[in-house]
Amino acid sequence: MTQHSQTQQHQPVGEDLLRGKVYTGDGVSVSYDATRCTHVANCVRGLPAVFRPEERPWIQLQNEASAERVAEIVRTCPTGALHYALHGGPPEAPAVPTTLTPVMDGPLTLRGDLVIQTPEGEVREVRAALCRCGASGHKPFCDGTHARIGWKSEQPGGQASAALRGDGHREDGQQADAALLGE
Ligand code: SF4
Ligand code: FES
Repeated sequence: MTQHSQTQQHQPVGEDLLRGKVYTGDGVSVSYDATRCTHVANCVRGLPAVFRPEERPWIQLQNEASAERVAEIVRTCPTGALHYALHGGPPEAPAVPTTLTPVMDGPLTLRGDLVIQTPEGEVREVRAALCRCGASGHKPFCDGTHARIGWKSEQPGGQASAALRGDGHREDGQQADAALLGE
């Protein structure tokens, strides 16, 4: 895991964000950190020829000619489990302004120029899902445990739930995530 000092000012470049297992294709590398995947499957829906969870390797970059298209779909991963580095291309630009979106019955998802304190040190990020059920084994990140234990963010009367659902529908990817994570 890449770490940076708090005094470091530059935004992370693509290679800084690669974490976990790295898959290298023509023009783009994609990394996958399984500990941060909540299986909401934006990647699978976005590029089913590349992201094939039933096969090994499950990321098959040779099936998509456009490195930009791969990057576009990786950016829909709300948890930061997936990252990319375009070979010689620009890094992923952090969202401005930073957004924080509670997912119904799930984590808080963030997008922006993030500096996250973890037990392993400071982590630079552009996308992350943080645990709010309290049961993640990989805090501060969500590891999907909320779904296994049936944790509910809903308040009596459903008002908070409705508000959260509204926030979660700001982007196509997050809309799908909210629906799936709520199951
Ligand atoms: S979009 Fe991200 S969190 Fe969702 S299944 Fe793919 S890698 Fe996992
Ligand atoms: S919110 Fe996902 S593990 Fe806690």
